[in-house]
Amino acid sequence: MLRIDGKKVYLVPFEEKHLVDPAYYAWLTDFEVVRYIGRDEYLKPIQFEKVREYVEELWRNRYCSFFAMHHSGDDAFIGTAKINYLNEAGFSTRTADIGIMIGDRGYWGKGMATDALFAICNYAFNDLSARKLTAGAVSANKAVIRAFQKIGFLEEGRLRKKLLISGEYMDHVLLGCFREELHPVI
Ligand SMILES: CC(C)(COP(=O)(O)OP(=O)(O)OC[C@H]1O[C@@H](n2cnc3c(N)ncnc32)[C@H](O)[C@@H]1OP(=O)(O)O)[C@@H](O)C(=O)NCCC(=O)NCCS
Repeated sequence: MLRIDGKKVYLVPFEEKHLVDPAYYAWLTDFEVVRYIGRDEYLKPIQFEKVREYVEELWRNRYCSFFAMHHSGDDAFIGTAKINYLNEAGFSTRTADIGIMIGDRGYWGKGMATDALFAICNYAFNDLSARKLTAGAVSANKAVIRAFQKIGFLEEGRLRKKLLISGEYMDHVLLGCFREELHPVI
């Protein structure tokens, strides 16, 4: 089975066992976790069946690779990550969007996101033949922006006060990285 190893975490394809793990649903109903992920439906109470529909769409989507993230030390399921070519244009220009969620808040602030992002970006360039990787983040989400920048992503644009988050307009920060720019954290 595919396994992408970082130093602190490893990623495997997101499977049924991850979907039905109560932790996954708990993360998606934790406001602190979902407030910046850009999926408004998760900001209101959501039924498990809607979560299943979303995950099944990802499984059917040939442009998207969806991963479960486990902590290497204790094998705990702690989050998810995505590499998404989005559509035919993304696929033909080899441009994929990267997404990440550390759902278990007990693992925040320990370098997990930075480690996971480096591992999946390496995989996207080397095994999925990506030419360019992109990511979008809410400006207030300093941690994810910092994690991307620490491994070589650059800010390429900023859509000012584009996103309405908890009643406040915030900037949408657009990040990008080419293969030669990606580097591990020193
Ligand atoms: C945002 C998120 C990915 C960060 O993950 P993490 O594992 O805690 O991040 P890391 O520990 O790798 O930290 C990355 C950097 O951000 C910094 N950081 C962490 N929390 C921060 C905060 N609240 N404010 C500013 N910087 C912060 C860290 O110090 C680190 O930088 P440093 O090494 O220079 O000190 C994680 O909290 C998460 O998944 N949140 C919910 C979902 C989400 O927002 N996903 C991103 C959608 S685009």
